Amino acid sequence: MHQDTHQELTGRVALVTGAGRGLGYAAADALARSGARIAVVDVSEETARQAAGDFDAISEAEAYTLDVSDATAVSSIVEAVAERFGTVDILVHCAGISRGSTQKDEEGNWLPMESVPESDWHQVIETNLSGTFFMNKAVAKLMIAQNRGRIVNVASMSALVANKGLVGLGPYSASKGGIVSLSTVLAVEWAQYNITVNCISPGYMATEMGKRSQVMPGFKELQLDNTPVRRLGEPREFARAVLYLVSDDAAYMTGHNMVLDGGYTAW
Ligand SMILES: NC(=O)c1ccc[n+]([C@@H]2O[C@H](COP(=O)([O-])OP(=O)(O)OC[C@H]3O[C@@H](n4cnc5c(N)ncnc54)[C@H](O)[C@@H]3O)[C@@H](O)[C@H]2O)c1
Repeated sequence: MHQDTHQELTGRVALVTGAGRGLGYAAADALARSGARIAVVDVSEETARQAAGDFDAISEAEAYTLDVSDATAVSSIVEAVAERFGTVDILVHCAGISRGSTQKDEEGNWLPMESVPESDWHQVIETNLSGTFFMNKAVAKLMIAQNRGRIVNVASMSALVANKGLVGLGPYSASKGGIVSLSTVLAVEWAQYNITVNCISPGYMATEMGKRSQVMPGFKELQLDNTPVRRLGEPREFARAVLYLVSDDAAYMTGHNMVLDGGYTAW
């Protein structure tokens, strides 16, 4: 089985949110292959359990079911992780949603910004932005106590630009912009505790979220035409960036937003 090169990660405890599938799964898998022990956190109990089973066969893993927008639940799950594994050394916060649950009209089209319901705004902001704050705050308490930590928050290229051809993505873009600026503040405040806080901002990645808009006629071509490298990003490529940011080599990088978008925002 492929073994990664970051030997210092052996035995470290990595809490990965949204690890049931997609980018979170890929990051947790790469961390497990580097010898880290994994706390798999996801709102979906079934995928969390399946993923934890996969990682437990490589390293050591446990599943936790949690909605990251519930601050009380976040604190108690992080306590449970610390009880089970001793601490949290690494947080990779991938849990996120792109739309609220009612953001479509009767014909199945996305609603434009002037029609986006307030409830959808709150759902996306609470899940993506508040969830990031709650999770960062809860793990930081452990990291401050041990004077060491690595945090990678997942924003998006949508924090920087409007996605061509999509409407109603304002809640998502605003939540991701908030994650980038929140992360810079946390990076500065927690540098004294030897904790780094960085973001990765993916472009269109080959996950269920990245492919979701491809059901719209012509959208796949639009995605590729606006991505200079002309393909979706692979979760594997995201995982490699995570491995770097959580490694000892990245000690001097903090408050950074690493854009991983095939050049989408370069145009
Ligand atoms: N895929 C892309 O193209 C892309 C692009 C830019 C940014 N991102 C960001 O990357 C992250 C991961 O995206 P992905 O493509 O893997 O998405 P995905 O939908 O495939 O996976 C997201 C995971 O997060 C979990 N999740 C959702 N809401 C949660 C909640 N409230 N609490 C706990 N877990 C929750 C889901 O159950 C799922 O397992 C997200 O933050 C997303 O916004 C993705």
